[in-house]
Amino acid sequence: MRVLIVFHSDYQHTQSVADAVVAGAKAALEDEGLPSLVSSKQATDTSLEDLQSSDVLIFGSPVHMGSMAWQMKQLIDSGSKLWMAGSLEGKFGGVFATYGGYGGAGGGVEQTLMSLHANFLEQGMLVCGFPRSLSGFADAGIHWGLAVRTGNDEGMPEGVAESGLVAARAYGTHVIETALRFK
Ligand SMILES: Cc1cc2nc3c(=O)[nH]c(=O)nc-3n(C[C@H](O)[C@H](O)[C@H](O)COP(=O)(O)O)c2cc1C
Repeated sequence: MRVLIVFHSDYQHTQSVADAVVAGAKAALEDEGLPSLVSSKQATDTSLEDLQSSDVLIFGSPVHMGSMAWQMKQLIDSGSKLWMAGSLEGKFGGVFATYGGYGGAGGGVEQTLMSLHANFLEQGMLVCGFPRSLSGFADAGIHWGLAVRTGNDEGMPEGVAESGLVAARAYGTHVIETALRFK
């Protein structure tokens, strides 16, 4: 099973969450005695061939002005060719986002995750949410996926808390375990 984590990150927050998702995904494959064919790439370095040759795709974006970063959307829009050919149909997906969350509200994180769902579903993929029973749900889980808040109450960047990384590892493991169950 080939797993690809695709993300955008300007200031490393989403990158560090992506790294933890990778670690969780690798652990799940190793537990099953499978080769850990897990890689991660920035969206701008990702080709359509990369998407096509993966069995599981996990996309992550920072929230930018209430929705996903344009770099993610650019890749997604270039995937219309894959939609025409049905190339991603039946693949398994997961989604995550980081967000400042100024004012204690979501700042658009749910919208970001659900937009990624819509794009995966349009491609005929299956999408995995973040169930309540997973480690870290109270800190960084939303039913739609993994959502790691990186800002403080004053709206300033605060970094990724260990609780967010715990949730990210749990989510990486969960997506792979669920994909294996389907396979
Ligand atoms: C241009 C820009 C727009 C942003 N818009 C939002 C927003 O609408 N809502 C929010 O909660 N956070 C917003 N943020 C905060 C980022 O989502 C947050 O800092 C994120 O963790 C950054 O990830 P990165 O370090 O991987 O780039 C914005 C940040 C930038 C740079």
